[in-house]
Amino acid sequence: MGLVVLAADKGAPGVTTAAIALGAVWPRPVLLAECDQAGGDLVYRLPADGGGMLNPARGMLSLAATARRGLRAEQVWEHTQRLEGGLDVLVGLTRAEQAQGLTWLWSPLGRAFANLPGADVVADCGRLGPGSALTDLLREASMIVLFTRATLEQVAHLRERIGSLSNDLGGHSAPPIGIVVVADPSEYRTAIAEVSRIISNAKLPAAVLGGFAMDPKGAEMLRGQWGGRLDRSLLIRSARQLAGGLATRVAPTSGDDRETQGVASGPQPR
Ligand SMILES: Nc1ncnc2c1ncn2[C@@H]1O[C@H](COP(=O)(O)OP(=O)(O)OP(=O)(O)O)[C@@H](O)[C@H]1O
Ligand SMILES: [Mg+2]
Repeated sequence: MGLVVLAADKGAPGVTTAAIALGAVWPRPVLLAECDQAGGDLVYRLPADGGGMLNPARGMLSLAATARRGLRAEQVWEHTQRLEGGLDVLVGLTRAEQAQGLTWLWSPLGRAFANLPGADVVADCGRLGPGSALTDLLREASMIVLFTRATLEQVAHLRERIGSLSNDLGGHSAPPIGIVVVADPSEYRTAIAEVSRIISNAKLPAAVLGGFAMDPKGAEMLRGQWGGRLDRSLLIRSARQLAGGLATRVAPTSGDDRETQGVASGPQPR
């Protein structure tokens, strides 16, 4: 099905938090894949199904070991694990050093994600540095979503990153780039208008998709315990809205997305 890449430039705007939240409320079956070259966080943040720790060796590392001989899309499922609550995840690398030997992986992995049977893939690609090897994976995306807070420095860095990213991806078949502004919902309007102004002045091929709630309590709750309060948090409510919009963009022809929007495929209130 579709591959949705989530990433940022500098400043840790909350990509991993948004990726977990979006995965949890995605309106179709989904796999959350940790592709951050700096190393994954899921193992440290969320319990596996049954309450234990996720196995850091089963995921990107075990997949890379077999993918050297070729990678069929359905093989990805052999390396996934399930979080408490039901969200399927592909655990990322444990250390940034491991990424250096795996630059060959991102292109076949991108193709496998884009053709994964039975589920969309939401990929946390972390911070995209200059000439990132992940560009090969990004090429296969149905949509690239870049997160930013509405500070001048984050937006300025994002603007530069979009410029070089669109050069690297090149041409007409490059995936669309969307921007999500992490802000207090009471400030969405001004934050989104400001970011839109900067991006359109720079004549960049990217559009602001909307806001994502700045919600420190919700973000904290997402590191570990999922409960009724989290389910009703600003963070999860705004994730539902964003997930509905993104899922429709990734598969615009399936008319029933809206009916299923909000049905959590991931962690459920206990
Ligand atoms: N929507 C949000 N509202 C409030 N706080 C948030 C939000 N998203 C993330 N945070 C907080 O910001 C910090 C960084 O979050 P997170 O790890 O998701 O960012 P990131 O962009 O993935 O960072 P990195 O580039 O290091 O991977 C965490 O302490 C998290 O709790
Ligand atoms: Mg992260």
